[in-house]
Amino acid sequence: MTGESQFPTVGDAESIAQEIWDLDCRAEPLAGEVDRNFLLVTDSGDRWVLKISRENTDRVDLDYQIEALRFLEASAVSHFVQRVLPTADGRFLLPYDRGGGGRCWVRILSFLNGSPLVNIRERPPALLEEIGRTLAHLDLALRDFDHPGAHRDHPWNIERIHDLARYTEQITEPARRELVERQIDNFNHEVVPRFEGLERSVIHNDANDHNLLVRSGADGEPVLAGLIDFGDSLQSITIAELAIAITYLMLDQEYPLTAAALVTSGYASVRQLSTTEKGLLFDLILARLCASVLMSTRGLHLEPENEYLQISSGPVWRLLERMSIIDPNEATRTIEDACSTSGAPVRDADEIVAVRKRHFGFNLSISYTEPLKIVRGEGQYLFDDKGRRYLDLVNNVCHVGHCHPSVVTAAQQQMAELNTNTRYLHDNLAEYALRLAGTFPEPLEVCFFTNSGTEANDLALRLARAHTGSREIIVLDHAYHGHSPSLVEISPYKCEGQGGEGLAEHAHKVPMPDAYRGPHRGSNAGEKYADEVRAEIAEIEGKGRRLGAFMAESLIGCGGQVIPAPGFLSAAADAVRSAGGVVIADEVQVGFGRVGSHLWAFESQGLVPDIVTLGKPIGNGHPMAAVVTTKEIASSFVTGMEYFNTFGGNPVSCAVGLAVLDVIERQGLQQHALEVGTRLLDGLRGLQERHPLVGDVRGLGLFLGVELVRDHETLEPADTEASQVIDEMKARGFLLSTDGPLHNVLKIKPPMVLTEQDVDETLVALDEVLSSFGRA
Ligand SMILES: Cc1ncc(COP(=O)(O)O)c(C=O)c1O
Repeated sequence: MTGESQFPTVGDAESIAQEIWDLDCRAEPLAGEVDRNFLLVTDSGDRWVLKISRENTDRVDLDYQIEALRFLEASAVSHFVQRVLPTADGRFLLPYDRGGGGRCWVRILSFLNGSPLVNIRERPPALLEEIGRTLAHLDLALRDFDHPGAHRDHPWNIERIHDLARYTEQITEPARRELVERQIDNFNHEVVPRFEGLERSVIHNDANDHNLLVRSGADGEPVLAGLIDFGDSLQSITIAELAIAITYLMLDQEYPLTAAALVTSGYASVRQLSTTEKGLLFDLILARLCASVLMSTRGLHLEPENEYLQISSGPVWRLLERMSIIDPNEATRTIEDACSTSGAPVRDADEIVAVRKRHFGFNLSISYTEPLKIVRGEGQYLFDDKGRRYLDLVNNVCHVGHCHPSVVTAAQQQMAELNTNTRYLHDNLAEYALRLAGTFPEPLEVCFFTNSGTEANDLALRLARAHTGSREIIVLDHAYHGHSPSLVEISPYKCEGQGGEGLAEHAHKVPMPDAYRGPHRGSNAGEKYADEVRAEIAEIEGKGRRLGAFMAESLIGCGGQVIPAPGFLSAAADAVRSAGGVVIADEVQVGFGRVGSHLWAFESQGLVPDIVTLGKPIGNGHPMAAVVTTKEIASSFVTGMEYFNTFGGNPVSCAVGLAVLDVIERQGLQQHALEVGTRLLDGLRGLQERHPLVGDVRGLGLFLGVELVRDHETLEPADTEASQVIDEMKARGFLLSTDGPLHNVLKIKPPMVLTEQDVDETLVALDEVLSSFGRA
């Protein structure tokens, strides 16, 4: 309102309303950037806004705004925009002489009940999404609207920010000047050329947090009340509407990209964004931020004392500086994720935790003290909702790398073509059975397809029982084989832990063949542990029973990343077979080349099992699993009762399984696991020498464990230290977890595409973290 007289007064406003619109009302001044505004309250309590333009305002501009609002009266957003009040003779805009020689224009709009969003610091995700949806409805409605006033030159037209570039030299701080110059240069050369072919339409062009109004909803949460001020509206690229709104909604937010994702998600659920639009959004946000700082720089150049400009430009500069160091590809991916058609609204981590607490089974834990909301995975990396990248050192399921394109494509293509079941003939099933069976040593050749490791192990138990006629089973202490009753009751890790009912009568445990902490250590530990199996067999037989099976992981996961004492598995297998039992190797965690030296971990232990169960990595995250056994055992299972599994071995799963095998071969991942795994193992052994907290380092390929102890003699487990290490590593961008009965083992079993550089960075970070516990 600089340089304007205080005319017209409240009295003038009241008489305009009365004389032109026949409204008996009281007037109160309202803030306004361009127009002089008055709130009008009629005797019956109706509220209107009288807008008196500046002198010599272009009539076309005002006509355009009025026509746009009138056009929207019949749209999905009619409740969110102001209505224009006609005079008795149907006019909406009338000339008014302010007495200064120039002509003003007056109009009356409905009053939207709400307060500017800028006053609300806590903006619930639902509100941000609603804003997105409403803007999309607005843009869809305005698709069919046009007016000469929409095609004007306007400094806030995002397509013309190069017109503002001349103010760059007025930025006094060199680093900021350089930043804006760089952005504008990028905009002119990289961004503008991509505008061609974009959808263009009339847009509001300024959905900032002063123009968005909110009110309290039924549950007390803020809801959108409306969008005011079409003063900057024009015809432009449609996507600018969303970019501009997001820009202001990101200001001073702790997690600006989350706010951006929420608004985008809402918007995209109504108006689908093209690939180019998604790719441009982040650049347009940067462009709008530049336009804003240039406009305030110019303003401050003209009026150096203007406090409003000084204060209001602060958050804009801060956001521009923050956004300029974000990887644009990452930001774009966040936007793309937000546009995903999953249909799920985007919720922040706290909200998801609340939903889980109420609607998920209660006995489910969440990783990390501060839960992570992971929104994307690529190769060995995971990305959270704030765009932060983590090196995933612990998810062995996404074996060939998160979202490997070959696996994703195989699944997508087959899913689009056909998905049935194993009772139909299908090439994928035949090919996968041939390929999978072909990777096993003789006599393992018959495949059963299931959906999870649990199903595979449960089926293995049935096969063993059918073949031997006995349920008696020997398992390793601390073993975990699955979550069904048949497996919980033979998994000491579960049935002997909290809430467990102890081992089943037919289950017998022997000590875990752990040569570091277990009862037998030293060079002949493997044989001594095998003696334990022999003793257990004797005990079973002493009760007049017969052994049916021995089940063990080829390398022990839940037990604490333990590599069985050398010679144990083959000696135990000999004893089991001599007693008439079969050997079940659980390769659910460790198969598919992870050990590096071999495709199957049992091969690294000099063992050929009778039944092998596969899971986790088999489908790179797609739920599938398998059992591979001998012809003899499979024949014993032919009892007259069919084994049918609705989803197991369906054409999509088999396509995925084939793609996983292809990638392992094509990318040489088994050999790669050996190389990077050995580098990591050597590096960890180096850390062991320098950090007394490290008691043992063990592993094969990319299956590694680091056992932390407080004392090398007593082996007192350093469990709290282990969880501190995990949290500290997470803070540095490395995801690990602990395992083992004493919770003191760092488990490392990353996607197999881990690189040497990842290994080196991990070692540096771990060195730093371990240093905080003191050196030897
Ligand atoms: C060794 C082992 N076997 C079996 C299972 C069960 O697999 P799923 O969770 O796919 O049922 C697991 C799962 O953690 C496992 O680690």
